Amino acid sequence: MMRVKLIFGILILISFTHAADIIISPNQIVTYNQTIVSSQETFELGFFSPRNSVNHYVGIWYKKISTRTIVWVANRNTPLTDASVELTLTVQGVLTIRNTTTGIVIWSSTNSSTTSVKNPVGQLLDTGNFIIYEQGNQEDPIWQSFDFMTDTLLPGMKQGWNLITGTENHFTSWKSDDDPASGEFSYGVDARGYPQLIQTKGQEIMYRVGPWNGLRFSGVSNLRPNRFYNFTFVVNKKESYYQYYLLDTSVIMRLVLQPSGTLERLLWMDSKQEWSLYLLRQNDLCDKYAQCGPFGKCNIDESPICECLKGFEPVSPDQWKITDWSQGCRRTIPLECDPSEGFNKYSNLKLPDTRGSWHNHTMTLVECEKMCKSNCSCTAYTNSNISGSGSGCLLWFGSLIDIKMVDENGDNLYVRMPYSELDSTRSSRAPRRVRVIVPAAFVVLVILVSIYIFCRFNTRKQLQEVKPGNKFGHVPETGSADKEIELPLFGLSTILKATNNFSMNNKLGEGGFGPVYKGVLKDGKEIAVKRLAKTSTQGLHEFTNEITSISKLQHRNLVKLMGCCIERKEVMLIYEYMPNKGLDSFIFDKTQSKLLDWHARYHIIIGIARGLLYLHQDSRLRIIHRDLKVSNILLDKDMNPKISDFGTARTFGGNQIEAKTKKVVGTYGYMAPEYAGGGIFSIKSDIYSFGVLVLEIVCGEKNRGFVHKENCNNLIGHAWELHNKGRPLQLVAKCLGESVNVTQVLRSIHVGLLCVQRHPQDRPTMTSIIMMLESEGPLPSPKEPAFYVGESKLDTTLSLSSDEISSKNELSITMLNGR
Ligand SMILES: *[C@@H]1O[C@H](CO)[C@@H](O)[C@H](O)[C@H]1NC(C)=O
Ligand SMILES: *[C@@H]1O[C@H](CO)[C@@H](O)[C@H](O)[C@H]1NC(C)=O
Ligand SMILES: *[C@@H]1O[C@H](CO)[C@@H](O)[C@H](O)[C@H]1NC(C)=O
Ligand SMILES: *[C@@H]1O[C@H](CO)[C@@H](O)[C@H](O)[C@H]1NC(C)=O
Ligand SMILES: *[C@@H]1O[C@H](CO)[C@@H](O)[C@H](O)[C@H]1NC(C)=O
Ligand SMILES: *[C@@H]1O[C@H](CO)[C@@H](O)[C@H](O)[C@H]1NC(C)=O
Ligand SMILES: *[C@@H]1O[C@H](CO)[C@@H](O)[C@H](O)[C@H]1NC(C)=O
Repeated sequence: MMRVKLIFGILILISFTHAADIIISPNQIVTYNQTIVSSQETFELGFFSPRNSVNHYVGIWYKKISTRTIVWVANRNTPLTDASVELTLTVQGVLTIRNTTTGIVIWSSTNSSTTSVKNPVGQLLDTGNFIIYEQGNQEDPIWQSFDFMTDTLLPGMKQGWNLITGTENHFTSWKSDDDPASGEFSYGVDARGYPQLIQTKGQEIMYRVGPWNGLRFSGVSNLRPNRFYNFTFVVNKKESYYQYYLLDTSVIMRLVLQPSGTLERLLWMDSKQEWSLYLLRQNDLCDKYAQCGPFGKCNIDESPICECLKGFEPVSPDQWKITDWSQGCRRTIPLECDPSEGFNKYSNLKLPDTRGSWHNHTMTLVECEKMCKSNCSCTAYTNSNISGSGSGCLLWFGSLIDIKMVDENGDNLYVRMPYSELDSTRSSRAPRRVRVIVPAAFVVLVILVSIYIFCRFNTRKQLQEVKPGNKFGHVPETGSADKEIELPLFGLSTILKATNNFSMNNKLGEGGFGPVYKGVLKDGKEIAVKRLAKTSTQGLHEFTNEITSISKLQHRNLVKLMGCCIERKEVMLIYEYMPNKGLDSFIFDKTQSKLLDWHARYHIIIGIARGLLYLHQDSRLRIIHRDLKVSNILLDKDMNPKISDFGTARTFGGNQIEAKTKKVVGTYGYMAPEYAGGGIFSIKSDIYSFGVLVLEIVCGEKNRGFVHKENCNNLIGHAWELHNKGRPLQLVAKCLGESVNVTQVLRSIHVGLLCVQRHPQDRPTMTSIIMMLESEGPLPSPKEPAFYVGESKLDTTLSLSSDEISSKNELSITMLNGR
């Protein structure tokens, strides 16, 4: 190990003095200690050894960057075990690595030339491309490293297909930070059908970027030009590839597929001497390939996230209900290839998987429809180019897979439907489904099933109690008294009466797991009844302990679970009724938001804080909620906030600080970076969500989906920028008008920013948050927040690094000064 490091240090020293000529000629030898440097000294090619590795490789790296950053590796899968090696260009124009002692060729570049060359030369260009060309014909290299991408896409590289030679170029991650061998993640253009970018893990598709629609990648919303780079996706008869160019040549930027499978766009910060994350392609649950199965559509803002396209129903309703969506949906009314069939238009979609699709760039939408209609296996069509008034034709055959709903910049899709299902022939549309303010689907299920188990236990217990044989009238002690739930059981007749036999008039809404009804008990108490459709109890026993504990929580800022009902295959949960529904129905609604003045909002912020304090510290248990968001805050008749939805909550033991989970549940836009990215949750991840909540309440905008039109920031970024400029009051929702108490507003924003700080350890605890909100002492300065944008935003400028926020203009200046 020491020896390797020594050589490495010497290598750097030597490379300044012993760089080989810029152009290398056949049989010229580049020894282990020598390097080839590009003319502007931007890049350097030579032997290197990764930090914790004993192997040696030939690679290309940035010459001017202090942190050795390898952008290309020649022999990634053929490591050199010692340094007795040399690099040469053969007279045939092939780059080879030879064993100095034996002369045996260990690695060589492929021969893609069809003609023999006379005077081949090699040269490292300032783009980072090593080219081999016939002397005098630099424009047409016979070989170039850009055609053999490793894990990095440099500006000007083409990621995709050359359809004439049939060659393809894609990223493959390193195996680990110390091992450049091909890892399991790849990212490239799939050209089976209309070309699209696909990321795979081994053989499995992980993520698909929607097809290029002439302006952007379908489903990648908020795409906007930026000052650092431009990009194109070219689809023609000869090639289909993705490429980007830097607009400012003083900027150093690379797109890299990390060994962990994350795709990162990194920017070199000269001032800090480090790579900073400029853009991360975030995956939310809806980005998991085919999450909702065939003909299903995924909407991250809904609960559950999967729904069938209109006119379709789950193939397996039972599986669907327990959130196993893999089988997808099928038509309610099958197609019969009848001439009366037509198409329904679906909007705001990420277009489905285009493998197996067909396209033509010149057809019109009308011709496209005709073409699709004339072929019975054609299921959908749309324009392939939405630029201008739209042109081109894209046809799908068979199942439509991996459809996602997007807020903005979604595409239209025309899906084949039988006559009776056509929008144009239906006199009245199906009633719109009401959004219910109930816990997220999975969560509801977990609670329901757990309660089901308990209730069943309790029912059995009750039955035993009245058994004639049991003369003492109670169940013998089983020793498991601790596990018993203290939830009252309601009789079905009571519930039927309360809800007027589940009358339509009492229906509050419909959730993924069945309807929710309002009811009034005999004593006049109002209740909300969640009625569970039939489910499976499989695998959910582990949650029972948690639910038992949670049912014991009592706090006026927590929604109260009043009991359950299990009778004749009915499973129901009974909650106290919240006449004012969710906080989201107020603050995000133009008219309703006026009803919530600053005083009411501050009261809500404090109430949520107290509820959380109880969960985190004051209750017997330490409970992490994990899904705090505006819609999980319900309001009672006096507008007191109540935290609801404890299905994702986790109970922590006495000294436990944090935990890790593989199943990240929660809502994008509210998730702390360490949780969304690494599955690590702690009370500090709840604090982060609380911070987002506070900013949303003050500002009246959703963090998720918020884009400031001038500085392209999300809500947190925008708040941070205004805070730094000393103008935080600009954040306050317009509708609050005169009602604001400036001191309280400023403190709330300040506390909000403290909560969303990047590092969990910097975020305050609930105790100090309440103190900060309610007292007048000085507050610590927030550090830069984490910008977590929970959407796939490949090639957008939305998720900005903190450096970008804090020093928009300084950034380019420092970089210019740096060289
Ligand atoms: C080169 O050959 C010598 C002699 O066979 C051997 O000891 C050495 O490990 C080889 N080096 C590499 C990098 O293959
Ligand atoms: C590299 O240079 C150093 C110092 O001149 C020398 O000790 C070392 O043997 C050289 N390594 C090789 C592989 O030539
Ligand atoms: C590369 O291929 C061409 C054509 O097949 C051939 O003429 C040339 O000799 C080859 N070069 C090497 C190094 O094999
Ligand atoms: C992107 O920028 C490069 C370099 O400035 C320029 O040559 C190219 O035409 C631009 N491409 C697009 C699609 O704007
Ligand atoms: C595309 O459609 C146009 C117009 O219908 C037709 O002339 C052209 O041949 C088609 N191209 C392909 C590749 O099918
Ligand atoms: C319909 O399209 C499919 C897929 O392109 C093709 O294989 C089939 O021959 C077409 N059928 C007709 C009747 O054109
Ligand atoms: C898309 O349409 C626009 C406007 O009609 C046109 O300028 C552009 O060339 C088209 N792109 C492709 C790839 O056909």
